[in-house]
Amino acid sequence: MSGIFKKIQKSIAYRTDKNFWLKEKFNQNYQNYLDSGATTEEAYQELVQLYVATNGKFNEEYNAKLKKSNPPLPVAQSLKGVPGNFTNDDFKKVNATLNQNGYVHFDAKLSKELCDKLTQFALNTPSLIPPTYKEPVIYNPENPVAEIYKFNAQSLINNADIQQLITDPVLINFARNYFGCEPIFDFPAMWWSTAFKKEASSEAAQLFHFDLDRIKWLKVFFYINEVTLDNGPHCYIEGSHKVNAKPAEILNRGYVRVPDADLAPYYKPDAFKTVCGEAGSMFMGDTKCWHKGTPLKKGHRLVLEIEYTSSMFGANYPKMEVSNASQTFKGFCANNKTFATNLHFKK
Ligand SMILES: [Fe+2]
Repeated sequence: MSGIFKKIQKSIAYRTDKNFWLKEKFNQNYQNYLDSGATTEEAYQELVQLYVATNGKFNEEYNAKLKKSNPPLPVAQSLKGVPGNFTNDDFKKVNATLNQNGYVHFDAKLSKELCDKLTQFALNTPSLIPPTYKEPVIYNPENPVAEIYKFNAQSLINNADIQQLITDPVLINFARNYFGCEPIFDFPAMWWSTAFKKEASSEAAQLFHFDLDRIKWLKVFFYINEVTLDNGPHCYIEGSHKVNAKPAEILNRGYVRVPDADLAPYYKPDAFKTVCGEAGSMFMGDTKCWHKGTPLKKGHRLVLEIEYTSSMFGANYPKMEVSNASQTFKGFCANNKTFATNLHFKK
């Protein structure tokens, strides 16, 4: 394309798009991210601004560009994994539901044996608590001293059971279909929520918010113990991940947490979903949807969450060091370089 023609095109775009210059800056900063492997704070703030200014449209448009540079790999006619057996048609239905509702729930559950193993791991592995998240503590169910105990991604990625879950071919294919490109494994997270504080805690993400660490992502949640209305079920507003699905008046407050009452006028009552489930229950969601945990009345909740993404652009978390990989995990990552972008294997 000639220089003059490019200039004319830019000039037309500038007059028709009020976010033109912000997008231009973002494009430059995305290139810097590709060159350096890290996102600057300025570039990340531009992503947040563009999400808010376009009510989510910018993220979808940018993700569409990523499809070209990282096209999805072909997959078999059907795949077997933790959520069950899925044919191509099943995958299409799941993806349609995800696009429509923002969340998908599964009938399949993690086995009791696996839930017991993960519970033992969580009772014996140090975690971090607010306000400092600095001193590692072991959670004592008899005497909780914080509303949330977060495990370090580093200790989770070295757990063989978690390695098996994150490489589940069905889960990866859900992400592949949703992004339209090869997914990257972003991080694992696990935490205890407790009844230490009875009121909604911002630390424990118990007020409505949406996540925005990446351009596009998918989270899979596993309840490791039974979750009822008493011990902090996950809540979300169905369909609120879509472009233009958030009220501009609320978005204009910036990237903040929002009380239930402020969102109630904008959505139908039956769009407010509460996810209870037996131990081992699993569901996945695009947490661009408004979502929150509920304050616990009693007991505790152990959740494992894994995230896939289409690009590591965004919040800068340290790359995970894998020092204890099963042979299968090592082999999988060696053959799936995109998946393993955020993992560093210790020699
Ligand atoms: Fe969140």
